[in-house]
Parts: sequence; C-alpha cells; structure tokens
Amino acid sequence: MTVLVTGGAGFIGANFVLDWLAQSQEVLVNLDKLTYAGNLESLASLKGNPRHVFVHGDIGDASLVTQLLAQYQPRAVINFAAESHVDRSIHGPGEFIETNIVGTFRLLESVRGFWQALPAPAQSNFRFLHVSTDEVYGSLAPQDAAFSETHTFEPNSPYSASKAASDHLVRAWHHTYGLPVLTTNCSNNYGPLHFPEKLIPLMIVNALAGKPLPVYGDGMQVRDWLYVKDHCSAIRCVLEGGRLGQTYNVGGWNEKPNIEIVRTVCTLLDELQARADGVSYAQQISYVKDRPGHDRRYAIDARKLEQELGWRPAETFETGIRKTVEWYLANPEWVAHVQSGAYRDWLSKQYTA
Ligand code: NAD
Ligand code: DAU
Repeated sequence: MTVLVTGGAGFIGANFVLDWLAQSQEVLVNLDKLTYAGNLESLASLKGNPRHVFVHGDIGDASLVTQLLAQYQPRAVINFAAESHVDRSIHGPGEFIETNIVGTFRLLESVRGFWQALPAPAQSNFRFLHVSTDEVYGSLAPQDAAFSETHTFEPNSPYSASKAASDHLVRAWHHTYGLPVLTTNCSNNYGPLHFPEKLIPLMIVNALAGKPLPVYGDGMQVRDWLYVKDHCSAIRCVLEGGRLGQTYNVGGWNEKPNIEIVRTVCTLLDELQARADGVSYAQQISYVKDRPGHDRRYAIDARKLEQELGWRPAETFETGIRKTVEWYLANPEWVAHVQSGAYRDWLSKQYTA
C-alpha cells in the first residue's frame, strides 16, 4: 500500500512524513516543489529509507501528478502543499492564488482522473484528504463561541481567502463528482522543524541571537495552539475513520494571547539557556506595527473530531512548548542552515551522485 503526500518537506508535512514512516509499513511518495519553505534537511533521517520516495515537483503539474498516480497507485492523497505564511500573502498574494487555488484545482483534477479509472473496491477505499486552516472562518470577538464546522467562511487575508477557496473546490469535487474527500481545519501548530518566520520559532531564534522579539500591535491577538504531532495524529485519525465529504476542526483547546506565548518562550529560554548577562530574554520584546487586517481571535471547537473519532491531543501547551524550545536548542545546525540558506543546497547534496 502507498500514500501520496504533497508538501511533505514543509513544517507539518515533514513531521507527518516522519511519524507516518515510523508507524506504518506503507510506501510514502512525497511530492514537494521545495519553495523557500521546503527543507529536505528536515527529512535527513530518512536517507536510504526505501519506503520514502521524494519527488521534486508541483501539485499543479498535471502530467507529473498523473504519472505518479499511475506509477504508485496510492490508496490516499494527503494534501499539505500550500503557501502558508499570512505576512507573505500580504506582500505578494500571487503565489497563494497560484498554489493554494489553481494548484489545488489541478491536483483535484489529476486525482479525479485517476480515481474514476480505479476498479470498484479501490475506488471506494480511496481518500483525498485536504489539510486546511481555522483562518477560513475569520475572526472572533472575545465572547464568541469557538469555530465549529458549520461556522460561516469569512476569510480576511489573501492566505485565508486562498485556503477557503481551496476548501470550496474540495467540497465541490465531492458533491459533483463523488470524489471521496475529507477536510481538516486546524489551528496554529508549533513544534520541531517550524520555519523561523512564524511566531514561536522566530521568537526562539531571535532571542538566542540577541535580536528584538517583534510583537505586532498590542500583542493581545489570540490563537489556539496545537503541538504539530497532535495535528498529525488527527490527520491520521480522519484519514482512517472520517466520514466522506465531511470537515473536521482540529484544535488544542489552548487559546492564548501572543504576548503570553512570547513571554513563555522567554521564561523557558531563561531556564534552559540563560543569557550571559543574567537578564531575561523578555527584555528583548519590542512592540512593532500591527499586521494589516490582523485577525483578533481564533478558537477551535474540536468536539466533532473528539466525539466521532475519539481523537485527543497528547500534549498540553506546557509540555509541547517545552519540547519545542528544547528541540531548537538541540538543533542549532538546522537553524543555522535555514538562516544561511544552506538548506536549499540539500537537494543536490542528498540526491545527486
Ligand atoms: P509550510 O509553508 O511549512 O510548508 C509548505 C510545503 O509545501 C513546503 O514544503 C513547500 O515547498 C510545499 N509547496 C508549496 N507550494 C507547492 C506546490 N505548488 N507544489 C508542491 N509543493 C508545494 O506549511 P505548513 O505550516 O507545514 O502547512 C502545511 C499545510 O497545513 C498548509 O496547507 C497550511 O495551510 C496548513 N495549515 C498550517 C497550519 C500551521 O499552523 N502551520 C495550521 C493549519 C493548517
Ligand atoms: O491558524 C492557523 C494558521 O496559523 C495557519 O493556517 C498558517 O499557515 C500559520 O502560518 C498560522 O498563521 P498565523 O498568522 O496565526 O501565524 P504566525 O506565526 O505568522 O503568527 C501568529 C500570531 O503572532 C499572529 O497573531 C501574528 C503574530 N506575530 C507573528 C510574527 C511572525 C507577531 O506578533 N510577531 C511576529 O513576528
């Protein structure tokens, strides 16, 4: 048996690929375009593993995807590939439209062609799982109930609008063509292998480098935080037991304002690798101009996933954030290669000669 994962060299995708190969005997084909966010060093431990087949390519390349589907006959496609950073979507939305909307459309069409030609049992067992975000639901006021799966879509950034569009395409391919799809909408992930452009890894690496810790606006924007391995376990759970055509919200019941997250990171660093001058890293916090259109609050109601499929996160925020800070302290080379850009040479180093 084989699964096809897209975007498996990114943050969540790489964690998913590593966990999947550790827990199953299946072959995993990993299709990734290796944008700036794709990092094969994250998968270095898989070198020589015959069950990991890495393919450098674009989900929007219909001839490549069609050929991969025909060659490997996967029982499932799990779509992580996306442009994922809200700030980048504000500066340059084009790539977000291209990959998240057009790319998802092309992927769906390639998969539909493959799926329609399958014999009956393989056709009914096949799954297309689309990994999406809570940001499609927009922003909550302080007293609002958490997002449920029936909350209206009100995306506010080019990123979230492009993900909302992709969710709609996935839904339509189920209703119109019968493609057996599942969608997950997850809150903010954190953990190992997170590119240091996002809040938590950026704060860790800036703190250690003696740089300012830039907090947008008043720092009181609220996010729900989930340890990445718990997101991966939720995806596995939905893949195996989710009802076709359904969406499942994934979250950690862990709402926190950004400033509290930053202070927690500083406190852990103070404990684990104190500054030479004995002053807290919190002294490096610097309030900066707010993100345009910044969503104030996200919160996820994950009861459908918990009650239907019995999923529970394994980590609390306290255990997960400690593991995360410890991982960054233990992996300075991974961080240094990301910062220097050397991680982008990994493809030629790893896969030629
Ligand atoms: P990421 O930016 O770290 O990784 C994205 C990966 O996709 C990279 O390896 C990149 O090279 C690859 N990619 C980009 N365009 C591609 C294309 N056209 N074809 C093939 N590969 C392509 O993102 P992430 O944080 O790992 O997020 C993965 C998915 O999960 C995304 O769909 C994102 O919207 C969703 N998500 C992320 C979070 C989060 O907190 N990070 C939360 C909920 C949902
Ligand atoms: O909610 C799920 C989403 O979480 C995913 O769909 C996205 O792919 C992922 O990037 C993430 O989006 P956010 O915009 O919430 O994540 P980010 O880490 O960029 O920012 C988290 C919060 O911290 C947000 O309120 C903005 C703020 N922030 C971020 C950075 C990078 C700062 O205050 N300072 C910063 O330097």
